Amino acid sequence: MFQNPICVALDTPDPALAAAMAGRLKGRVGMAKVGMELFNRAGRAGYEQVAAQGVPVFLDLKLHDIPNTVAQGLTSLMSLAPAPAIVNVHATGGPAMLEAAARAVDGKARLIAVTILTSLSDADIHAAGFDPAADTAQTAVKLAQLSKQSGLDGVVCSPHDIAAIKAACGADFMTVVPGVRPAGADVQDQKRIATPRTARADGADILVIGRPITQADDPAAAAAAITASMEG
Ligand code: C5P
Repeated sequence: MFQNPICVALDTPDPALAAAMAGRLKGRVGMAKVGMELFNRAGRAGYEQVAAQGVPVFLDLKLHDIPNTVAQGLTSLMSLAPAPAIVNVHATGGPAMLEAAARAVDGKARLIAVTILTSLSDADIHAAGFDPAADTAQTAVKLAQLSKQSGLDGVVCSPHDIAAIKAACGADFMTVVPGVRPAGADVQDQKRIATPRTARADGADILVIGRPITQADDPAAAAAAITASMEG
């Protein structure tokens, strides 16, 4: 389905800017990620302005609520035109919510789960009430397994968790991986990074890459260079 593994993160609330960037990158990336900063400001029209560029969209809204509300929220998203290529929910919503989400999406998009936000440290996770005996990586794998059992297509995960998740859930279970930086690029605020080549070698299906592409002088050339770095 996704021949080019690069998903460019269009991290802007401005739909005109996002659509212009998606248009410039068409053919150089496999997908574009639209998040809540754009959707909460510009809504369906903003999303559709980006999607009209002809680049598949990962609509990153990370739904988390009771099963009925999440299912209805996803049903509303499935009526977007064109429908998003990928949508997501929080795995910590639990099995009934995940199953209801999968039924609502019904194969019209890929449905993936956020396991543990990679911005959280072990201490943060324990402070939030998770099992202090389990470490974060193990919790992420457990939530990935729950997501798979509940009928989801994959998870968002750190580059460092790809191998463990593929081992636990199988090669076909999709890993969508942020924290990717081309060799020598500015790391910015990312902490646990990998190069595109390493992440792909570890089994990443989709690489979510924002600023190294969107803030480059020539975004299309930056995306092409990342593709070349994975092939060379
Ligand atoms: O600019 P950069 O490549 O760091 O952007 C990465 C994108 O992936 C951003 O949209 C960021 O919110 C998202 N993301 C992340 N780490 C996660 C989950 C999502 O960087 N754990």
